[in-house]
Amino acid sequence: MKFLKFVYPILAATWLATPCWAQMQNLPINSLPPPNIFGGLAIMEALNNRHSGKDFSYNTIDYQTLSEILWAAWGINRDDGKRTVPTAMNQQNMQVYVLMANGAWLYNAQNNNIEQVTAQDLRSYLQTQEYTQNAPVFLLYTTNGNPAGMTDAMQAGSMYQNVALYCAAKGLNNVVRADFQKSDLAAALGIDEDTILISQVVGYPI
Ligand SMILES: Cc1cc2nc3c(=O)[nH]c(=O)nc-3n(C[C@H](O)[C@H](O)[C@H](O)COP(=O)(O)O)c2cc1C
Repeated sequence: MKFLKFVYPILAATWLATPCWAQMQNLPINSLPPPNIFGGLAIMEALNNRHSGKDFSYNTIDYQTLSEILWAAWGINRDDGKRTVPTAMNQQNMQVYVLMANGAWLYNAQNNNIEQVTAQDLRSYLQTQEYTQNAPVFLLYTTNGNPAGMTDAMQAGSMYQNVALYCAAKGLNNVVRADFQKSDLAAALGIDEDTILISQVVGYPI
């Protein structure tokens, strides 16, 4: 197993050096404001407020809030590049897609931006339950590891729980959702269906 010590840094460097999908396609890249990592609700109060809130207004989520949601889910919180959630052997093999009215975007924590995958509004693939109709933001958690294995599902669970706690602290509603049109959504995003683990809808309550 000792060789992994050398293999992982090489794999990570190769991945970081690879031009991202949006850059290759000349698709828009939206910079996000830095997340405000100070203050907020005390952790015990956030835990006490955590719940699935199944009503959503049309109110959109501003980019400051989006930046913080994404940072909670999958941001980098240390100088060594490690994240707000743990991953098995620090593989960091997860991705977060953001689906909004202005298209589907992939979060890039290193650059603190979102990179457009398509300008199409793909939210309808996730609006399979009535209460989600007005919601402005859907997160999609995917892996380029081993989706059938346990660790990727656990990692996705850490990600959606971080977002749920952020929502609890900020008065946002959220629901973790397995009920969506997975294969159609995967095709629209141009990704393998098996890489999709779970989704989460986020927005302001009515
Ligand atoms: C893995 C997972 C999948 C879920 N899928 C759905 C779903 O497809 N639709 C839905 O309305 N709620 C879904 N939920 C939310 C649960 O219904 C909810 O967490 C549960 O009723 C407990 O309520 P609470 O989150 O307020 O404690 C899911 C939750 C988890 C953890």
